[in-house]
Amino acid sequence: MMSNSQPITHKASLDWVRTIEEGKGYMAIDPDSFLKLLRNMEGYSFFRTLRKHVKPEDSVLEAGCGWAFSSFALAKEHIRVIALDISGKLIADLVTLKRRLGQPYDSFLFPLEGDIFNLDRIVQKQNVIFSDGTYEHFTKDARIIFLRNIRNALKDGGTFMIQVPNMGNPFFGSVVGNKMPMLFPFTMKSLSSELHAAGFHLCERGYSFVNPGFEQWVQSQWRLNGKFCRLKM
Ligand SMILES: C[S@@+](CC[C@H](N)C(=O)[O-])C[C@H]1O[C@@H](n2cnc3c(N)ncnc32)[C@H](O)[C@@H]1O
Repeated sequence: MMSNSQPITHKASLDWVRTIEEGKGYMAIDPDSFLKLLRNMEGYSFFRTLRKHVKPEDSVLEAGCGWAFSSFALAKEHIRVIALDISGKLIADLVTLKRRLGQPYDSFLFPLEGDIFNLDRIVQKQNVIFSDGTYEHFTKDARIIFLRNIRNALKDGGTFMIQVPNMGNPFFGSVVGNKMPMLFPFTMKSLSSELHAAGFHLCERGYSFVNPGFEQWVQSQWRLNGKFCRLKM
């Protein structure tokens, strides 16, 4: 991995750094609670779809990882994953967490502080990149650059898997909207056409439920629909 010393240039990313530093999102979590949530991953269809397409020898990166549940779940199966996030505090907490969890997490999960908008400069090319709940925070202009970075950081024929929330769900705005940086809405069609315009070939798409960490955060038993697309270059 190469070092990342560029300044943060996107407002949504600065907002996330502030939100996390103020303790309003992705607070440090104890290993027992984390493992309990991690056990739910098999019920999370975004993860199940991801798992289906990752081979044991693949290099994998999560772009904008938050608590990085999917990355930890892959690491549990001895798949090497870089969990990238812009927040230095979050990454420091993930390093502490993976050490406290021990093996296999400690050897297979690599938290990395860095900016998706510099992705191609900070990591080697990957077989698989996934991003779950990050893309929707950026403006259209920024999203074009986001996708260009993803493409440049993928090996030929690499796979990109993305998920955005379904903001048409009435619970989403009322429960979550004011707790996180601004979000842009997508339909399956608008997401697919942005990805297509960025040069991705759409392989698969579907609907999923939010991850277990998110469920805990909203502290309810509600399941909020999300949309996901898996793309092959
Ligand atoms: C909604 S969270 C992702 C949720 C995560 N997938 C999970 O399972 O918990 C969005 C994350 O993207 C990160 N982020 C925002 N801008 C970023 C950027 N430019 N580069 C890397 N990470 C970024 C934020 O710090 C935040 O942790």
